[in-house]
Amino acid sequence: PAADVARLNAPALFAPHFPARSFASHKGTFGSLAVVGGDTGMCGAPILAARAALHTGAGKVHVAFVGEGAPAYDAPYPELMLHPPGTLAFDAMDALAVGCGMGRGANAIASLQKALGCNAPLLLDADALNLIASDTSLAGVLTAGAVKGASGADGTARPCVLTPHPLEAARLLGTDSTSIQRDRLGSARALAARFAAVVVLKGAGTVIASPDGRAAVNPTGNAALATGGTGDVLGGIIGALLAERLPGYEAALAGVYLHGLAAETLTAGGSGPAGLTAGELAPTVRTLLNRL
Ligand code: APR
Ligand code: MG
Repeated sequence: PAADVARLNAPALFAPHFPARSFASHKGTFGSLAVVGGDTGMCGAPILAARAALHTGAGKVHVAFVGEGAPAYDAPYPELMLHPPGTLAFDAMDALAVGCGMGRGANAIASLQKALGCNAPLLLDADALNLIASDTSLAGVLTAGAVKGASGADGTARPCVLTPHPLEAARLLGTDSTSIQRDRLGSARALAARFAAVVVLKGAGTVIASPDGRAAVNPTGNAALATGGTGDVLGGIIGALLAERLPGYEAALAGVYLHGLAAETLTAGGSGPAGLTAGELAPTVRTLLNRL
């Protein structure tokens, strides 16, 4: 990595941004997150994200399903509030995490448009990114929202974090994943500039880039993460940190770092590198978070 890239070797970069858990705190203190996604047959993705958000300390966690036939509640995690399509008010949320298992159907597009129109901090993953890559008007709404936020009352942009894997990044930049992988840092920076958003370019050596020029390469993580659903868990962690009012760049740094460290910790205990399941990461993320 280039010399001007921070080596993300110290939680000191993000730990001061975590909310205090004071005696008088209540669930509102730690924010409401809605995970938006889950087309018919892909309900597991947003549920994994939402469970991870609970373990990352969000005050309240909702799932807004995009497809019909979703479950009414999550039996192992009855703390989650699950909503059929079109029934949750996004503007009552402190953060939105959009895209997990969302598909690219009409309801997915409508949900993404509704989310982009809210002022809440936003995390976009998976099919939310694929939709933006294939529809210039959605991309325009995303960048216009960032600009509108930038000139808002407090002078700061609405935090927005994009979490592409290399193929999703390639679609967003109109190139192929080989080109992305050849210059991961440059690609993450180009995406951050293009969309005025914090970008998490996933894969071994995850790169985090901010539109203000800051960038970091994450040192944690291992091949135990090469299994379905780990990206959804990361989305839930970062979404929770946005709901807890961390700035976008620090939420991304913290999420990526803790997600990778959880994989290393579980691997050291014998749960990886083979056979770690994505859902197992979240309770370990909680332990690491409480030790910061
Ligand atoms: N080393 C370190 N980290 C890794 C490694 C590795 N070898 N392999 C994977 N990871 C991490 C990535 O950095 C990322 O955080 O695991 C996560 C994988 O995320 P995704 O690629 O999004 O995978 P997944 O969760 O299965 O995605 C679910 O969504 O993005 C769509 O099309 C995708 O169907 C897929 C679905
Ligand atoms: Mg994914």
